Amino acid sequence: MARLFDPITINTLRLENRFIMPAWTLALQEKAESLNPRLTHYFLRRARGGVAFIMVGPASLTRWGGGKFEYRLYRTTCSRSSEPRRGHSRLGVPVGLQLHHAGRQANPVLISGMPVAPSAIMCPSDGRSRVH
Ligand SMILES: Cc1cc2nc3c(=O)[nH]c(=O)nc-3n(C[C@H](O)[C@H](O)[C@H](O)COP(=O)(O)O)c2cc1C
Repeated sequence: MARLFDPITINTLRLENRFIMPAWTLALQEKAESLNPRLTHYFLRRARGGVAFIMVGPASLTRWGGGKFEYRLYRTTCSRSSEPRRGHSRLGVPVGLQLHHAGRQANPVLISGMPVAPSAIMCPSDGRSRVH
């Protein structure tokens, strides 16, 4: 238990303690090409709460990846601009970015199309069959 508060170095990454915030799909990410003010506020509160590392994201690489509640790295403004990196450096703790492709679990409404998956096996979580 006590070690949770001890610093740790993972390869070249030094963390002040062992608490990390995992990736969460946040409605706050809607329309966010990078950090919008509400998302910044949300992450800043977590950083000030003491987590040593924040995994931001998820982030989809294609428009079939996950939908509007994710960072959309395939958008020119998101992938080419240095703003996402500048924005996250303001949080004051190291961040990671979760790359995500929902595959057959992608919601056709959110991605405005049919999911892209490696097979036609239906998604067990929602029972809808998938075309790919
Ligand atoms: C609303 C919500 C959204 C989540 N979104 C993601 C996600 O996008 N990527 C991911 O890897 N995990 C996601 N998770 C899982 C969490 O990151 C975490 O691993 C999970 O809640 C287990 O931690 P816990 O046992 O402390 O709740 C999500 C969880 C919740 C509750």
